[in-house]
Amino acid sequence: MSSPRGQFSSKTGFILAASGSAVGLGNIWGFPTNAAENGGGAFVLIYFVMAFCLAYPALMAELIIGRHTKSNMVSALQKISTGDIAKNVGKLTGFYGVIIATLILSFYSIVAGWMLAFFLEPLSTVTGLAEISIWLTEFSGTRNIIFSAVFMVLTTAVISAGVEQGIEKWSCRLMPSMLLLMACLIVYVMFQDGAIEGLKVYLLPDFRQIGDPQLIASAMGQAFFSLSLGVGTMLIYGSYLSPDENLPAMGAIVTIVDSSIAFLAGLLVLPALFVAQQQGVTIYNEAGNLIAGPDLIFQTLPTLFHSMGAIGIPIALVFFCLMTIAALTSSISMLEVPVSYTIENHGASRHTAAWLIGIVVFVLSGLIALNFDRLFNFVVTLTTEYSQPLLGLMLCIFTTWVWHRDKMLTEIRSGYPQVEQSLFWKIWPGYVRFCCPALILIMFIQGVLN
Ligand code: TRP
Repeated sequence: MSSPRGQFSSKTGFILAASGSAVGLGNIWGFPTNAAENGGGAFVLIYFVMAFCLAYPALMAELIIGRHTKSNMVSALQKISTGDIAKNVGKLTGFYGVIIATLILSFYSIVAGWMLAFFLEPLSTVTGLAEISIWLTEFSGTRNIIFSAVFMVLTTAVISAGVEQGIEKWSCRLMPSMLLLMACLIVYVMFQDGAIEGLKVYLLPDFRQIGDPQLIASAMGQAFFSLSLGVGTMLIYGSYLSPDENLPAMGAIVTIVDSSIAFLAGLLVLPALFVAQQQGVTIYNEAGNLIAGPDLIFQTLPTLFHSMGAIGIPIALVFFCLMTIAALTSSISMLEVPVSYTIENHGASRHTAAWLIGIVVFVLSGLIALNFDRLFNFVVTLTTEYSQPLLGLMLCIFTTWVWHRDKMLTEIRSGYPQVEQSLFWKIWPGYVRFCCPALILIMFIQGVLN
């Protein structure tokens, strides 16, 4: 029934694809703005703790289940369960994951469309098409729908080409380009007046904020979103990984790359904010807090680029190109979740499944774009703040309470024969069995109560 499964052709291919999924708007926009809102260095510190102590163990759970079952989340959780009840709960959890991945993509493609529009704006300015420039940068339903459609076409085209020829090939092209663009921008911004002040706000922790439950909940949410956890993205990427690869090492590399790029993005965005202040741009809102959220990316930074004169045009182009690329390598990994399910469980061809689901996502994006004030924040909160941590919790439970420990060990041993003597095996299983679910639950409840 199912078509032959794809596989990443190399270790590098997997690392770039999984890092490409992880590194996205969450890193380049979400992380710096979260840091700006939540006490700079204090947030950065707690974020790193969350990424390595909570997100990495959960990422490992997804990768191990994925590679063992060689299937999408719906079938995977059924395969590792014994007994009808566990199998049914597994199936429902998998479905929930597929639906949440689809919903995340529906709002993500709108935001990615804004990046695309802002990327084109410098080009229309240079060519003297002033009216088009205004249309591109002004918030409107039409613009939002058109650009999320263009973005979804790009995403679907990559996914329809398959694992090796689509996901891997494009991740290997786009990720290095993105890093290069980012490095150039950081170097440029660092030499501008005001950058050092931004660095201080970013890096010096205000220790009074470190225990703040709001900060901790934001850092956890950010870490789960950034590592693309809970919805089966990493599970499906793990399922395309060769049995010869060392899973704990692969997971660690992806976590390190993801956190490092988030950290680098902070080195770009926060100093840029203070450079903007030097140029006369307001960077604090009425309440006296640093401007964060959409205003930072779509008002403060563009104002900075305009104030730079001629050089501002290529800088804006590079910045929004960077954003678009980062978004694309992430959105393909979201689309792969429902597409792999449709291929494997309903016998569809990759081409049909990709375009069919691409259209479904586009329709959902359109609904959100047309009812923006009512739906956008609602969908973001429902998916990222509520569903992702809960799904992460379910995955930890399935891995360590439902699945056989021996089978899990055998899976990790393939590619890592000495695993039993490793620190990983001494800590990880017990940790994912008891600590992760408890921590996720405590912080989830705290976040909801807030
Ligand atoms: N991690 C990506 C980012 O930081 C977004 C992402 C990709 C994602 N796949 C996901 C988020 C699955 C949640 C679930 O932008």
